[in-house]
Amino acid sequence: MSSLKSKFLLSPDVTYLNHGACGACPKEVFWEYQKFQLDFEQHGCRFMDFSYPEQFHRSREELAAFVNCSPSDLTLIPNVTHGVTTVLRSLMLPSPGEILLTNQRYRAFERLWEESALERIIPVETMVNFPVSSNQELLENIWSNVNRNTSAIFISHIASPTGLIFPVAELCRKARERGIFTIIDGAHAPGLIPVDLEAIDPDFYIGNCHKWMSAPKGVGFLYVREELQAYLKPLVVSHGQEFPGAIGSPLVDDTLWTGVKDSSAMLSLPALFKFYSENDWSAQQERAHQLAVSCHQSLIAMFGNPPLFQPESSFYRQMFAYPLPTKDLAKVKTFLFEKHKIVIGGFPYEDQAWIRPSFAAYNSEEDRDHLLQALADYFSLTH
Ligand SMILES: Cc1ncc(COP(=O)(O)O)c(C=O)c1O
Repeated sequence: MSSLKSKFLLSPDVTYLNHGACGACPKEVFWEYQKFQLDFEQHGCRFMDFSYPEQFHRSREELAAFVNCSPSDLTLIPNVTHGVTTVLRSLMLPSPGEILLTNQRYRAFERLWEESALERIIPVETMVNFPVSSNQELLENIWSNVNRNTSAIFISHIASPTGLIFPVAELCRKARERGIFTIIDGAHAPGLIPVDLEAIDPDFYIGNCHKWMSAPKGVGFLYVREELQAYLKPLVVSHGQEFPGAIGSPLVDDTLWTGVKDSSAMLSLPALFKFYSENDWSAQQERAHQLAVSCHQSLIAMFGNPPLFQPESSFYRQMFAYPLPTKDLAKVKTFLFEKHKIVIGGFPYEDQAWIRPSFAAYNSEEDRDHLLQALADYFSLTH
């Protein structure tokens, strides 16, 4: 067992390989989160008026340092879905026009594209060609769909189905030169790869802390370039701008108070950053990536299907997708969980079941071997 696993609440008999869907949280961060919940219960409104704004800003400021942007350009939100919806409902794109997407997008936002289409902003899809061989090729492929009607590009920093990392900094730079808005869905990126917002320089960047950062569930962030903040319409309207601790920034203040809710996940970010520094987090992440690389190589050796990108390449980090010789994903997942207590992500695509193993800092060589052995058993192969 990895020495870090005992620092997480994951059940010892579970092999968790789906951190990309929902991260596991370290025990000491989870205790801190529960302390905030208790504090709310013990001090009620008093805690809301006094400690709450101070903690909210502290979390926001530490997170801004982590993703390298000014704290005044970033606010805390419950999740990426909230942030993407806020941005798309606020942006008044010229109509008729086009918004560029890729086929590697996260599918929960389809209704937003339908709404755009009703306003005559047509979603245009770039099909990503696999195997991927260079960032230049990726960039040229996406850019080949840009034309004078393109008013915005919406792209995942790291694709949900395949783990592919997109060259978003180069894309944002080219888009800015053409006056095209960039909206980056960074659900998977923070905690998985360094996110440097000053270098990427997007118009909007929305990230999650409860995936690869391992925060308690219910915290993400919305970054908005300073000149665009005045156009943002909050998804939820409440006391925010008049709430104690408001700092005179609509972006931040509107999210400071959105009605009574449990904000403890947001407030526990400083405990998370402390956990990273005390547990050599970057080295653990690198070790986890090497587990992903060797798992990827072994799957290719076992099943012989070509990979989407080379296991040793830099197109992914800690999470990748691989096709299995079956259509029945549900059956494989049920077998893996019921017989082996392995939790793994996956999706059906082009008549094949794809698994998406995620290796997090707490995963071990035994976890990797457990998955490979369980798949060998399922497909009656020798591993
Ligand atoms: C690329 C991408 N965007 C957005 C989301 C939505 O994240 P959340 O459910 O935290 O809003 C996900 C979730 O898996 C995702 O993979």
